[in-house]
Amino acid sequence: MKSKIRIAIDGPSGAGKSTIAKRVAKQLGIDYIDTGAMYRAVAYKLLQRQIDINDVMVLTDMLSETDIDFIDGNIILDGEIVNDKIRTHEISRMASDVSALQIVRDKLVALQRKMGLHKSVVMDGRDIGTNVLIDAEYKFFVTAAASERARRRWLELIEKGEKIDLKQVEADIIIRDNNDLMRKLNPLKKAEDAVELDTTGVTAEEVTDKILEVIKWQ
Ligand code: DC
Repeated sequence: MKSKIRIAIDGPSGAGKSTIAKRVAKQLGIDYIDTGAMYRAVAYKLLQRQIDINDVMVLTDMLSETDIDFIDGNIILDGEIVNDKIRTHEISRMASDVSALQIVRDKLVALQRKMGLHKSVVMDGRDIGTNVLIDAEYKFFVTAAASERARRRWLELIEKGEKIDLKQVEADIIIRDNNDLMRKLNPLKKAEDAVELDTTGVTAEEVTDKILEVIKWQ
């Protein structure tokens, strides 16, 4: 294995990226950066402060005084652990809108590149292999059928006590897929040099093993 490795894992919502990325990071003893959580944290702050997403001046000011970091597996927004607060259905919707804004992407992509500058990391998101860590040592593109991705997200929300209909989650996943694929800035796209893995009907353990195998032999 190479001495410093950056592993990019991209794919649509609910494909299992974060579960797999966390496992890979743990197995290799390196840091895990959940870039989706960073977009969610910005959405959470906007919502808390009731900032209009179209108010560029206020948004710019807010971003200049926003600090996001990962410590011991927690996401820290301005000194506060926001792990659970950013996992609601409302934040999922808002994060999708927020992630299409240039000033937000500029700020978060710069932070993400800094996080992968001097150490080995597993980073998951939508544009890691194509934009954030274009020279990552390993790239994976993880997919799954939309119906299965919706079911996984729905189960997560139900477990957290949200009352939500599976059909609603499925409809929202399709809208978010569309936003992620069609947006002008760094849309979701498989990097040419990424290994594609379909997780439909496959366990997170199996996908993790497959990734570790690729890393061992490449
Ligand atoms: O993976 P997730 O559902 O937590 O991501 C939240 C939102 O952020 C989602 O709408 C896609 C967007 N996102 C992005 O545009 N670029 C990334 N690198 C990661 C997430």
